[in-house]
Amino acid sequence: MKQQLNEIKQAAVAALGNVSSKAELESFRIEFLGKKGRLTEILRGMGKLSAEERPVIGQMANDIRSFIESEIEALSSRLDMQLLEKKIAEEKIDVTMPGKRQPIGKKHPLTKVLDELKDIFIGMGFEIAEGPEVELDYYNFEALNIPKGHPARDTQDTFYINENVLLRTQTSPVQIRVMERQKPPIKIIAPGRVYRSDAVDATHSPLFHQIEGLVVDKGITMSDLKGTLDAFCKKLYGDKTKTRFRPHHFPFTEPSCELDISCPACNGKGCRVCKNEGWIEILGAGMVHPRVLQICNIDPQIYSGFAFGIGLERTTMRRYEIDDIRLFYENDLRFLLQF
Ligand code: DAH
Repeated sequence: MKQQLNEIKQAAVAALGNVSSKAELESFRIEFLGKKGRLTEILRGMGKLSAEERPVIGQMANDIRSFIESEIEALSSRLDMQLLEKKIAEEKIDVTMPGKRQPIGKKHPLTKVLDELKDIFIGMGFEIAEGPEVELDYYNFEALNIPKGHPARDTQDTFYINENVLLRTQTSPVQIRVMERQKPPIKIIAPGRVYRSDAVDATHSPLFHQIEGLVVDKGITMSDLKGTLDAFCKKLYGDKTKTRFRPHHFPFTEPSCELDISCPACNGKGCRVCKNEGWIEILGAGMVHPRVLQICNIDPQIYSGFAFGIGLERTTMRRYEIDDIRLFYENDLRFLLQF
């Protein structure tokens, strides 16, 4: 029996040398230590042994069993380790490989120019104000000194929700809303969407954007208007830019003017961009009409102010020499990616 046990031990050592997976290891365990395994079979025959032999053989069989068990355990953890190392090697990430580029969007040209305008005015101490696009007739016209039947309403036909509610035709109503809730000193710009029922063509759109400006304080004069807007033009179009103020009419300012700049393309000599005039109109402005101040409960004997309105599309078109306003709204990437 001793010999049999020694043979089993040798066979086990030899068989272990061929085990290379967990599954093979389990078959090995069953072959030697399982219920019908080779070692178990021997132990079952112990009953036939003499009383002296039994403990000796028993001791030997137990030693072999624990020898095989510890061999199984050692090999099992070696196999686990190999498996883990293989997995780690397979899943290795090369952090030096180039990443997958995510296409990120760009700012719309109108947003880019608006951001520039905001920066310039914020740099001069202006704050940003907002008002609703669905506006009351009162704010869009009435309080701006444009009563019902006034001819100025003809050029600003719009979309009416009902008789008193409309889509604003200009950002000027924000002037009224700000003056109603804030006492001077006031120094704001109000950018936003405006609407008019115009037919679409290369220079017209029923939806466009304006930037309104308003300054109200004691002792504000036309020279403040000219100085501020001249500084603005030089910041936006370059230090060499000349400005020209032409008399004009707006119902809510008195006196009113339009502001031209020397053509940035030809320095005022005359070219295709300025249609040979040397000058380009860029905004409307004026001293806030005393009646408008009064409507907002601001005493025109004490306070005065100036206002201006800039068209964002026209400013952007000039800036990038874009010749068709429709390009802004069509979302064609071939156009948008150029900015
Ligand atoms: N709201 C005018 C328009 O849409 C533009 C304008 C002109 C605004 C003169 C002003 C201003 O604030 O003073 O035609």
